[in-house]
Amino acid sequence: MKVVRRREDLAAVGRELGLPTKRHALVPTMGALHEGHLSLVDVARQHAELVSATIFVNPKQFGPKEDLSRYPRTEERDLEMLEARGVDLVYVPTPDDIYPEGFQTAVRVGALAEPLDGASRPNFFGGIATVVTKLFTRMRPDVGVFGEKDYQQLLVIRRLSEDLDLGVKVIGARIVREDDGLAMSSRNRYLSPPERRIAAELNVIMRKVCQRIEGGVPVPVAIAQGRVDMDDVGLRPIDYLELRSSTDLSVLPDRALRKDELADARLFAAVMLGGTRLIDNMAVVEPG
Ligand code: PAJ
Repeated sequence: MKVVRRREDLAAVGRELGLPTKRHALVPTMGALHEGHLSLVDVARQHAELVSATIFVNPKQFGPKEDLSRYPRTEERDLEMLEARGVDLVYVPTPDDIYPEGFQTAVRVGALAEPLDGASRPNFFGGIATVVTKLFTRMRPDVGVFGEKDYQQLLVIRRLSEDLDLGVKVIGARIVREDDGLAMSSRNRYLSPPERRIAAELNVIMRKVCQRIEGGVPVPVAIAQGRVDMDDVGLRPIDYLELRSSTDLSVLPDRALRKDELADARLFAAVMLGGTRLIDNMAVVEPG
């Protein structure tokens, strides 16, 4: 596995690995890798002969009160894990390499980036769109693989690639969960053992909300019950618990849903637990 740290070295190493004649899939990450990230490598492999990853904790997607400085950094282990999973190339840039002095351009995606995490984290999707544009431009992959764990991010990046003609096909990968249903996340390591037990309730409660909605309970009633259940177990404050369209994140009717409406409905949640922000999402009716 080749590890590149400087932009100047990317072209030569790419040539050595047989680019641009090989089909190339990229998995962008912020490191602190776990099985969720590695599952993206497996999906990438199904779509390409050459699989690359990036590890970059992108300062532009952290708010001033967020966890940039304490975001877990485990580079040595990350590189071992990527190599063991068969990754061919890893790009590990420094902040200066990505944002040299004088950098002043931003990429902004419209309506898809506004609700949910976009509402509670003002610069979040702008920071993501900007860095992903740069990573796509530098790495020039045919395919980019992103997890449904960050479902809104997946839609934002798909839109971005299309709108800016980046030529990258954006593929989504299923959420990888712990045995008790908690979605794997680099931030789960912040949780104390009691918090870790409470965290597992997020998925349990969300599944109940989905079952009620599927069973014909009006959406506002099911959501209100979910909020009460979350508060009862200590998942608070709730940032959002909302039902939206899987296709374009538009809001769904405030009533019991018809079968055709249920098929596109997806439940999104973000809650704080101690100092840790947890997010999860799921289709009301799992396809297949
Ligand atoms: P990061 O949080 O490191 O996640 C990297 C990729 O792994 C994302 O596509 C994310 O959705 C996916 N992922 C994380 N946990 C997952 C899980 N449990 N199951 C499936 N996929 C999972 O997302 C980012 O980094 C950044 O915003 C980035 C796109 C790299 C831009 O900076």
